[in-house]
Amino acid sequence: MTERRRILFLDHAGVLGGGELSLLSIARAFRDEAEVILFEDGPFRRKLAEDGVAVSVLPMSGKLRTISRDGGLLNDAAAIPALLGHCLKVARLARSSSVIYANSQKSMIVGAIAGALSRRPVIWHLRDLMDVAHFSSGHIRLAVGVANAFVSRIIANSEATRDAFIASGGKAAKTLTVYNGIESDPFDSVDPSTSSLLRTELGVTESDLLVGCFSRLSDWKGQHVLLEAIRKHPGWHALLVGDAIFDADTPYKSMLETLASRYGMADRVHFLGFRDNVPELMAACDIVAHTSTAPEPFGRVIVEGMLSRKPVIATNAGGAVELIRDRQTGLLVPPNDAIALQGAISSLEQDAQLRATIASQGHDEAVSRFSSDRLVREVRAIVDSTRGGT
Ligand code: UDP
Ligand code: GLC
Repeated sequence: MTERRRILFLDHAGVLGGGELSLLSIARAFRDEAEVILFEDGPFRRKLAEDGVAVSVLPMSGKLRTISRDGGLLNDAAAIPALLGHCLKVARLARSSSVIYANSQKSMIVGAIAGALSRRPVIWHLRDLMDVAHFSSGHIRLAVGVANAFVSRIIANSEATRDAFIASGGKAAKTLTVYNGIESDPFDSVDPSTSSLLRTELGVTESDLLVGCFSRLSDWKGQHVLLEAIRKHPGWHALLVGDAIFDADTPYKSMLETLASRYGMADRVHFLGFRDNVPELMAACDIVAHTSTAPEPFGRVIVEGMLSRKPVIATNAGGAVELIRDRQTGLLVPPNDAIALQGAISSLEQDAQLRATIASQGHDEAVSRFSSDRLVREVRAIVDSTRGGT
């Protein structure tokens, strides 16, 4: 591979969040010209390596690790010497690439400086909604300022993400929306016998209603709203697939466990932890619920629910609104509203025709708008035009 063609992908995370799973499909498609640098080790590195992607870990030193999404700028300032050291190392690696592609906010800051040092253009795949529901205003100013100054192209994962970036002062001319793409094969090739097996293992009968939530356990992902919504319905079960993959979310996980036992429903709230077989688990559910209480930037799990041919209920904010047409390809409910969620579950439970129509129309919409081929094509066009200097 010539230097001209190489892409240096950066991500700070070693865990498998939605941003990392999305990069996995992109890096796989660019395998022959990609090198991925992660700032911590973990299952993401192993997945990339299994898929034949060149990946290495450049660990962040102590102070750099303490920068958090809601932390203050003083804390960030203390991390500057470590940050510069890290940027220098990335700049050295970038010399054998034609473009730097940062997949997360922390890696964008590093990539932007490394790009200036190595004179390589930088693309930022922006997967976060830059608003105060998610970040401190200092962090938003810092990230937007650095991106405006040093990043050539910003790829937003939804119009909501793009709008929030621009509303925070981000340059509109550099920013374009590319929706995520999800491979449909794993959802189409689920063996149906695994579904009934799973329900039996969980003690969920055919007449019970299994509502699955497939988000990492985190306050703003709103699993507590689902627990509230099913509380008064003994035949309703919640399948919580996902873990507190970021340390700050561990107390929320304990809170959910406490809530389930306090409400006397530990036998119908099933904590599965992080799982690798989301398509199989979705197939066992009657409904897929997305319960985020803050605007979701995109929400892969919504599209995955649609690809599973399940009726999806999602909260009416952020990118979710661009994925679902209410009562046609899914149901939208206000965020943080357990009564509305309970009502939506109930209307699906009682109306088989509505369930079937939404599931089928949702599936077709997901296939036509969110394919991984379309994602790769759009990303390739942006990478090529950026390294061409346009
Ligand atoms: N996911 C997974 N295993 C789990 C829980 C979730 O593989 O146990 C995946 C899920 O299928 C989805 C991603 O994690 O692809 C979450 O992405 P999303 O965009 O919904 O949310 P994020 O975590 O990025 O905010
Ligand atoms: C982020 C967002 C999520 C999005 C994912 C992939 O993790 O929180 O909404 O789907 O990135 O772009």
